[in-house]
Amino acid sequence: MSNNQEKREAGEAAIQYVEDGAIIGVGTGSTVAFFIDALATMKDRIQGAVSSSEQSTAQLKKHGIPVFDLNATGPLALYVDGADECDTHKRLIKGGGAALTREKIVAQAAQKFVCIIDSSKRVDLLGKFPLPIEVIPMARSLIGREIVKRGGNPVWRDGVVTDNGNWIIDVHGWQIADPVAMETELNQLPGIVSVGLFARRPADVVLIGSKVM
Ligand code: A5P
Repeated sequence: MSNNQEKREAGEAAIQYVEDGAIIGVGTGSTVAFFIDALATMKDRIQGAVSSSEQSTAQLKKHGIPVFDLNATGPLALYVDGADECDTHKRLIKGGGAALTREKIVAQAAQKFVCIIDSSKRVDLLGKFPLPIEVIPMARSLIGREIVKRGGNPVWRDGVVTDNGNWIIDVHGWQIADPVAMETELNQLPGIVSVGLFARRPADVVLIGSKVM
């Protein structure tokens, strides 16, 4: 069961990685919401943020934190985001909030990725949390069949449209022993925009509550 107190502690602990004058990459979700609130208390010491979702953009703007386009900032020193699962190698499943594609882009642009979670997210083997995959709408059935061929059970997240205008398939029943290989293979399928596995580019630091993993 997820733990709100640990989520708050993790969000607040991530502030120690924020350097003066920086533009911060900001993820999405209830744990990140605590981070954004904490960031607001020191907003005069940073330039602003690059956001991974409309949801986080709204919260950042509400606090008066400037939000920049990634094309205008260049590489970022820091990205802070939550996760749905995290293994011992800091490889993640993300996308429970459907923001995985922009999250992956901002994570890739950052030198350091600090992942903030509560202890319920720590697993030995990724895959109990259904793996989110963002697909171009016309490829939904095609990708569904590819997933079934690979032993997964694809479930369309009906009614959800991503910030990019695409759809989400959640894959149940995969025990992901080699997340790098799976991410690489799925990335090749036409119609997949991105896969919620963050294994090729894992987190650098994981905070479980206020503790560094
Ligand atoms: C958003 O698409 C996700 O990747 C989130 O990072 C993930 O779902 C964690 O969310 P919570 O912090 O709300 O648990």
